[in-house]
Amino acid sequence: MDKITVKDMDIKNKKVLVRADFNVPLDEKTGKITDDSRIRATLPTINYLTNLGARVILCSHLGRPKGEVVEGLRLKPVADHLSRLLGKDVHYSRSSIGPEAEKAVAAMNAGDILVLENIRFHPEEKKNDAGFAKELASLANIYVNDAFGTSHRAHASIVGVTEYLPSCAGFLLEKEIAALSSIIESPAHPFATLLGGAKVSDKVGVIENLMGKVDYILIGGGMAATFLKANSYEVGQSLVEEDKIEVARSLMKKASENNITLLLPVDVVVADEVSKGARGTTVPVEEIPADKKVVDIGPHTTSRFWDALQKCKTVFWNGPMGIYEIPQFAAGTKALAETLSNLYATTIIGGGSTAEIVTEMQLAEKMTFVSTGGGASLEFISGNELPGIKALPDKEK
Ligand code: 3PG
Ligand code: MG
Repeated sequence: MDKITVKDMDIKNKKVLVRADFNVPLDEKTGKITDDSRIRATLPTINYLTNLGARVILCSHLGRPKGEVVEGLRLKPVADHLSRLLGKDVHYSRSSIGPEAEKAVAAMNAGDILVLENIRFHPEEKKNDAGFAKELASLANIYVNDAFGTSHRAHASIVGVTEYLPSCAGFLLEKEIAALSSIIESPAHPFATLLGGAKVSDKVGVIENLMGKVDYILIGGGMAATFLKANSYEVGQSLVEEDKIEVARSLMKKASENNITLLLPVDVVVADEVSKGARGTTVPVEEIPADKKVVDIGPHTTSRFWDALQKCKTVFWNGPMGIYEIPQFAAGTKALAETLSNLYATTIIGGGSTAEIVTEMQLAEKMTFVSTGGGASLEFISGNELPGIKALPDKEK
């Protein structure tokens, strides 16, 4: 990577502000962290810095508190969890800037760790406000961006702060860039992308950027309905992005011009409603009833996708194949997650819900790389430069 990293900096005894992405999923009822992958992923950077005697000041957002304090979105549970993972004290400040944060930093010793309060409690964060960025920066001597998952946001703690401190990438950011670049720059062929999730609009950039690079495009999930409609199938009550039908058509045309095999579902599971008690029925795509919704791919589709994936040396997957949260509509997603985990191929999993599924199924270790970025990994694979990465200085050639 051509960005300066923590390894290039003189860290010893410095106060280091580390922007992490601790935006972890929380249980709706208990508020407990349901997947700590994003916290674990920052441990290498934290340990490296504390081993060099740095005072590590961690900063993150959690959820979307809209610029005000939301009790349920404080970072205290994250600080406690981090403390358990590290087996040492982690301090926590109920403010991210101002006298309370300054006092907490002043009380730190070499090797100490402090977690600042949810940075999005301040409206200035999302506005990339210069004064706010400067105040945050004033807490430290060095800035490290290890928040790959938030690097597609031009916010104060991601972009603004780099104006006021010597800045560099952390190990997680470095690893994400290396893994995701490898599949867009030099993938081993055959290369497939497996895409699902609710909306075509989230994936258009990915499909367009991968068009000249992949050999297979496999489409499932809610977004398949728009593609099926573009091929003149009736999709009943399924959500169709009417304004993306033309886009879907043109993507299919481009795929065929580029000799890419684009596979859509040939059978689907349909149901009256998306609810825990709903019953699914499998039908061929020609026979989707007018009063039902598509909720998963069917077994023939899974097996066609399986056949294609067996041939591949590289696979990029983002987006579930059905309504994964409802067990009876999770079969397609689960079968393909298993398939990917058993391939002799480079398997890269886009973050967000896809990463959570793979982690929940305990398959993360069997994949080549599971990104911690949801929107960020899609932006990256779409070929867009992420503002948080752009803001970091390049290594001298
Ligand atoms: C994410 O989970 O996508 C990142 O943490 C960024 O959060 P955001 O989508 O609320 O900006
Ligand atoms: Mg997001």
